[in-house]
Amino acid sequence: MMAYIVMMAARLIELRRVLKPNGSLYLHCDPTASHYLKLVLDAVFGHSSYKNEIVWLRSKNPKGSQHASTRFGSATDAILFYGSGDAAFNPDLIRTKLTAEQVTEKYPSGDEIGPFADGPILRSESMGARPNLVYPYKGFTPGPAGWRMEKPLLEALDKKGNLAWTRTGAPRRKLRPEDDRGDPVGSFWGDIPPLNSQARERLGYPTQKPVALLDRIIQASSKPGDVILDPFCGCGTSLESAEKNGRRWIGIDVAHYAMTLIEGRLKAKYPSVDYSVYGRPTDLAGARELARRDKYQFQWWAAWRLGSQTYREDKKGADRGIDGNIYFHNGPYGVGRIIVSVKGGENVGVQMVRDLRGVIEREDAEMGIMVTLVDPTTPMTAEASSAGFLRKSAHGRLPRLQIVTVEDLLAGLLPKMPPLPQPARKQQSARKQKDGDQIE
Ligand SMILES: C[S@@+](CC[C@H](N)C(=O)[O-])C[C@H]1O[C@@H](n2cnc3c(N)ncnc32)[C@H](O)[C@@H]1O
Repeated sequence: MMAYIVMMAARLIELRRVLKPNGSLYLHCDPTASHYLKLVLDAVFGHSSYKNEIVWLRSKNPKGSQHASTRFGSATDAILFYGSGDAAFNPDLIRTKLTAEQVTEKYPSGDEIGPFADGPILRSESMGARPNLVYPYKGFTPGPAGWRMEKPLLEALDKKGNLAWTRTGAPRRKLRPEDDRGDPVGSFWGDIPPLNSQARERLGYPTQKPVALLDRIIQASSKPGDVILDPFCGCGTSLESAEKNGRRWIGIDVAHYAMTLIEGRLKAKYPSVDYSVYGRPTDLAGARELARRDKYQFQWWAAWRLGSQTYREDKKGADRGIDGNIYFHNGPYGVGRIIVSVKGGENVGVQMVRDLRGVIEREDAEMGIMVTLVDPTTPMTAEASSAGFLRKSAHGRLPRLQIVTVEDLLAGLLPKMPPLPQPARKQQSARKQKDGDQIE
């Protein structure tokens, strides 16, 4: 926890540096860290910049929690909201729409137009005399306080069917649900459901948030054309919301997988979206730098460049010699699998190729491809060649084991591979159970 707080403190200081004077900061976290983060935020932004601790109802049914037998299930997240006195805020944009039950409860009467509720049309005496609002209408003249509106407005209201007369002959106003602006949003957000496993917007990213949650934040605290920065953008929910709401955006994430997901989701929804990606290797020096900085990110990036369709969350835990999987249609032989092994070190040797051969046998996969940062040695190439060709192939003669360098990959020189299918959601979840892999 302390390491996390220190990591966040350094980043929050930088975020304050780049935040415009009329900008706002929202920090979404879970309740195990929110109290510490609030102190850090107070220290960095000043206590006077604290605006709200928003509580988001993340789960309506927290009984699946592993601690449910010893404590109450954790059902909420915290969103800490900070901004200066000048921070832009549009409360009118964020009112909650009434649910069907609320409409029935709030508008209990009905006529040929639809549901309505009775409302006042006369000013009460305590509001004082208003001679200009005292005029006869349909045989009724109010007391000195008058009508609540001038005659043309009253006539328009009547024409719409929104003026009623009680049995005693007193006028009433018919209030309609379609004119209801909804309630202003408070700091408890129980009306935005989390993404369930069936949600259409779900991408398979473990911490994905619903777009509606980000819509509310972005609409409340910015206007079209403003810049949204999400420095931990994950699969890019905030970026999609920013694009949708006509804002400019910057997303940052250490996971290359996140960037790939974001590109896919934005292009699918907004085909003409315009953006640049920084930090993804485009040459050998960049690839070397990534391998030096983060071995696992390098492995994922290299496997992805090759066409790998899988992503393992628990990468650092169980490495069974598999850095990626490429699935293909192998005609009458069903779904074929290519196992990808990435070697980011400066020293490679023949034993690595033997190991990959062993993995292919163990996994009963069709092919194996090793990606190396440095050129393979002659014994490595010989070992790969000695593995022969696929026994059952619907795509002609395909080598069982191949080695490709990162330099080749960057130059577009791919090893021999069968044509790859487009990722399909159903197949993915079936395989996820089989290998414990989370497929892109
Ligand atoms: C909770 S997730 C964000 C989820 C996001 N709101 C969404 O809807 O997908 C946090 C993200 O922070 C990223 N991350 C972790 N450490 C980081 C760092 N030091 N800099 C940038 N991103 C980081 C992780 O890769 C992860 O994608």
